[in-house]
Amino acid sequence: MKKIVSLKNIEKIYGFDKDFNQKVLENISIICIDGKIHSILPNENYDEGIRELTCEIEKEFDNNRNKVYYDGISQKDNKSYEIKEYDLKNKICLPSFIDPHTHLIYAGQRSHEFFKRNRGVSYLKIAEEGGGISYTIKKTREASDDQLLFLLLKRLKALSSFGVSHVEIKSGYGLTVKEELRLLEIIKKAQHYTNIKIIPTCMPAHDFPPESKKDEKLKEKWIQQIIDEILPEAKRKNLAKFFDIFTEEKFFNYYQTERLCRSAIDNGFKIKMHVNELSNIGALKLAIDMNATSVEHLLQTTEEEVILFKNSNTTPVLLPATAFYLNERYAPFNLFEKHGVDVGLASDSNPGSNCTENILMVYTIASIKLHMEAFQILKASTITAAKALDLKDYPGILEKDQPADFLIVNVPSLEYLYYHYGDNPIEKVIVDGEEVFVNGI
Ligand code: NIG
Ligand code: FE
Repeated sequence: MKKIVSLKNIEKIYGFDKDFNQKVLENISIICIDGKIHSILPNENYDEGIRELTCEIEKEFDNNRNKVYYDGISQKDNKSYEIKEYDLKNKICLPSFIDPHTHLIYAGQRSHEFFKRNRGVSYLKIAEEGGGISYTIKKTREASDDQLLFLLLKRLKALSSFGVSHVEIKSGYGLTVKEELRLLEIIKKAQHYTNIKIIPTCMPAHDFPPESKKDEKLKEKWIQQIIDEILPEAKRKNLAKFFDIFTEEKFFNYYQTERLCRSAIDNGFKIKMHVNELSNIGALKLAIDMNATSVEHLLQTTEEEVILFKNSNTTPVLLPATAFYLNERYAPFNLFEKHGVDVGLASDSNPGSNCTENILMVYTIASIKLHMEAFQILKASTITAAKALDLKDYPGILEKDQPADFLIVNVPSLEYLYYHYGDNPIEKVIVDGEEVFVNGI
């Protein structure tokens, strides 16, 4: 049975053409079949379009039924198609959002640190005193598989309610061989319970385990365990697409980063890297030289480094809500714009440096603090975010046979979506032609 989804009477749809140029269509209807766009037509041609299409499907179905009957096999379906129509009068339609950087699997919370930080105690100082990532590790290790799965699904639901259809999720709050693999297994399990598409990342190099932090030998042991035990096992069980590392003066240094990333590449992982967040130790060039798929944060990035992206396969991803939440400087979007380098945007949702699932707030912060234009934000949250995850399909290409991944949004325009912040006007999230989130029900 064919599944037809039609978005009719769309006031405005914002998206892109095949060459990733912006495209805005007005008074338009889109008919999708089996998760893909089938036709895009003016509203006045919609009724005729749907009639023709359903007749075609019926005819093909009858032909097949006769063939099947002749072969003596009974037809399973007795209906040739199922149709779902959405009337989008006074609403707009957008491609669904991709969030290419999150730390969604953890237990516990750190509101006590939030107030400390706001009164001037730095993120690094809190970490040095045993708080920060180490605190979340303790809480995460104490939680059962079911608790972690429940918390993860709850956060995924919240994220999708703001329009996210694809999300990258990192491990990194386990930091023993057993705990890191456990987190990756739970991320894998979560995919059975949600229609949001999960892209898992192995991140045992999020920090050094709390029990090894003050001992160089134990730190070296952790690096060796990642290389000898975690990476091969995560690959064998197909638990992650990417390997990620927190490269910083006070976390993993340049040489440790190089060693770990080389081993990850040898094991068949693609690379992502947290780089230039709190300090610049020259690792951005290393990431590009190693052909990293993406590099993220980039607050301390220089113009020379921005130019390096021009001849590279690496996508820069900015996380402006983290800079906002940490009260840090913002990544230099103006330099990326000046040199024609597209950037992705991500939430970085995590319990310490940005505790929210509201990705619309991230986009509003991008417009206020990075001075991004509405269409630049849309591209950064769809097409460029997809590149940062090396996805094959890009939501947002308004062409036949592209994935039917759309948002139905109750606002008058794209600009309004970012302007009226803190609200959630996303009514429906449709992925591959299926509703994955419906607001208010
Ligand atoms: O992206 N940088 C490392 N990881 C997170 C923070 C994690 C935490 O504080 O728990 C980040 O900012
Ligand atoms: Fe992060």
